[in-house]
Amino acid sequence: MLKFKNPERVATLETPFWYYDMDLFRSTVDAVVAAASKYDIKVHYSIKANTEKRLVEVIKDRGIGIDCVSGNEVRWSIVNGVEPSGIVFAGVGKSDAEILYAMKVGIGSFNCESLEELEILEAIAAKEGLRANVSLRINPEVDAKTHKFITTGLEMDKFGIPKRFMGKAVEMLKNSPHLDFKGLHFHIGSQITDVENVFTNECRSAKGIIDYFEEQGLKVSTIDLGGGLGIDYHNPDSHAIPEFDLWFKTLRDNLPLRPGQELHVEPGRSIVGQCVSLISRVILVKEGEKKNFVILDTGMNDLLRPALYGAYHKIENLDGAGRELRLYDIAGPICESADVLAEDRVLPETRRGDLIAIRSAGAYGSVMSSGYNMRTPAYAVFSD
Ligand SMILES: Cc1ncc(COP(=O)(O)O)c(C=O)c1O
Repeated sequence: MLKFKNPERVATLETPFWYYDMDLFRSTVDAVVAAASKYDIKVHYSIKANTEKRLVEVIKDRGIGIDCVSGNEVRWSIVNGVEPSGIVFAGVGKSDAEILYAMKVGIGSFNCESLEELEILEAIAAKEGLRANVSLRINPEVDAKTHKFITTGLEMDKFGIPKRFMGKAVEMLKNSPHLDFKGLHFHIGSQITDVENVFTNECRSAKGIIDYFEEQGLKVSTIDLGGGLGIDYHNPDSHAIPEFDLWFKTLRDNLPLRPGQELHVEPGRSIVGQCVSLISRVILVKEGEKKNFVILDTGMNDLLRPALYGAYHKIENLDGAGRELRLYDIAGPICESADVLAEDRVLPETRRGDLIAIRSAGAYGSVMSSGYNMRTPAYAVFSD
């Protein structure tokens, strides 16, 4: 059950709000930094998961770089003190303006996702008299065994360069006077829980691809294996800090590096997911024909994941101690049938005004929120 650091104060706040457990966040960052140093791995935080300024500041102060997927994420990172050289920029559709901005500030590397993009990068650099570091995101054709909307490394996904175009990419890079080839990038999907098997498969596939580029005479200096480490949505208290050590050990054990090669990763969810809960109050409990509904003052406008992916979040009634258990669907106030946060959940008998915690909401939560139905968005509250 969620415990607030300052419960009396929190009880007086208007809902809904995102409650940031900053102690847990700092401990999680400590854990990823310690594991990265143990296995000699460079980390870039995937800022798309949560762009909150206070998180970015802690991450930057601990020497973690940033993985971006838009020009505004690059800009936001720099505004918050991140060195441009510590930024990598992926994404299947970078606009000319985004590319030009990132080239001018001198980001660490573009993670290029198509031959078409490679051509555009070279043309913009040539026109502006600039140089840019480029890594190629190759589609490793590895099944991440996760939800189909968060799988990214299969042949039918829109991400990355298909393997059959690798020869063409080598030729283009050898003839690109303004692009410096840095290395290879892979990302197979998100919320991966079968850590050893799935990441071992990723390493095997990456190895063959790295060997190919080296054989073709391109030196692969950085190998970025993406993000994807899953978190335990069912047991946020007993598994508050994800298994960074196991993930990094699996990568190290299965991908031998040549001298001078660096291993990089880009975790998002695993760094921020467990550190935030969405706090809401019950507007009313509605008796339906076949089900009873708890209607909250938050919904898909704040937390889209259940509607978008059918994602599971643990839901707790913080005022329900000692009451009998009942079965409910937990829904938001939005005029959409998809605005259901959870179905068939057992909660203590729930009443109008009860405080509800939707756990593990730190990743892909606030960043995906919208102003739909003109509802006032949830705001951030920090435990400290
Ligand atoms: C290229 C890339 N890297 C890293 C990540 C972060 O993944 P996760 O939050 O699962 O660690 C993503 C997420 O979609 C991604 O697309």
